[in-house]
Amino acid sequence: MPRKLIAGNWKMNGLRSDGHALARDLALRFSTEKEPAFDMLICPPAQLLDSIGQVIAGSGVALGAQDCHRETKGAFTGDLSAAMLADIGCRFVIVGHSERRQYHNEIDLMVAEKAAAAHSAGLIAVICIGETEAERDAGEALTVCARQIAGSVPDGATAANTVIAYEPVWAIGTGRTPTVRDVMEMHAHIRAELSRKVPDADDVRILYGGSVKGSNAGELLTLPNVDGGLVGGASLQAEDFWTIAKASE
Ligand code: 13P
Repeated sequence: MPRKLIAGNWKMNGLRSDGHALARDLALRFSTEKEPAFDMLICPPAQLLDSIGQVIAGSGVALGAQDCHRETKGAFTGDLSAAMLADIGCRFVIVGHSERRQYHNEIDLMVAEKAAAAHSAGLIAVICIGETEAERDAGEALTVCARQIAGSVPDGATAANTVIAYEPVWAIGTGRTPTVRDVMEMHAHIRAELSRKVPDADDVRILYGGSVKGSNAGELLTLPNVDGGLVGGASLQAEDFWTIAKASE
């Protein structure tokens, strides 16, 4: 079984003062934990990546970005390439988050290109997929996620360079979560679909995301085929995030 990955997606939250304090707190907890049974990743907003990389250096907490461009450099105002992120110490980058798909019109092909760019730069791509509420209500959740895997996971993806995050759109920031049965069904389905594209699909970490908090983490993050969590709101307080990580053990 792959080692659990507990990832915090800070989204557009964090100034230097609170961002550094949060990172410092987590770095201290993680580095003083005796043999943690999970890996920990934080994905702060871009302006904090470099300085937070220094705050968490040597702690074992990994650094990730929330997006990257598909090209390595060039005339793309406002964008950051995967090579730039690797250059400042990122090991991971989230691609295809539903908020990017929704607000920046990212489609599967673009997500696959970004993931491939991440791989070329030596980064681990955290590829996000997940159905909308209308798609689930229409009984299309499994089909939608299969299509997103087929379209968003690039050639060359392996368990070493790719993590999948299943985040049902309707569960993000809403306090609602799928049932345990639905999560188990979806994660098994994702693993089966991955095996069509990825040679070592059994070892790919498949994270659950969407309204994960301390009170439901033990139930959701210990299910079969759930190899960790991608946490939004509850990753912004060290105590909350740490409670989630410990509950996943
Ligand atoms: P919440 O944990 O706030 O629901 O966000 C989930 C998410 O989108 C993580 O990427």
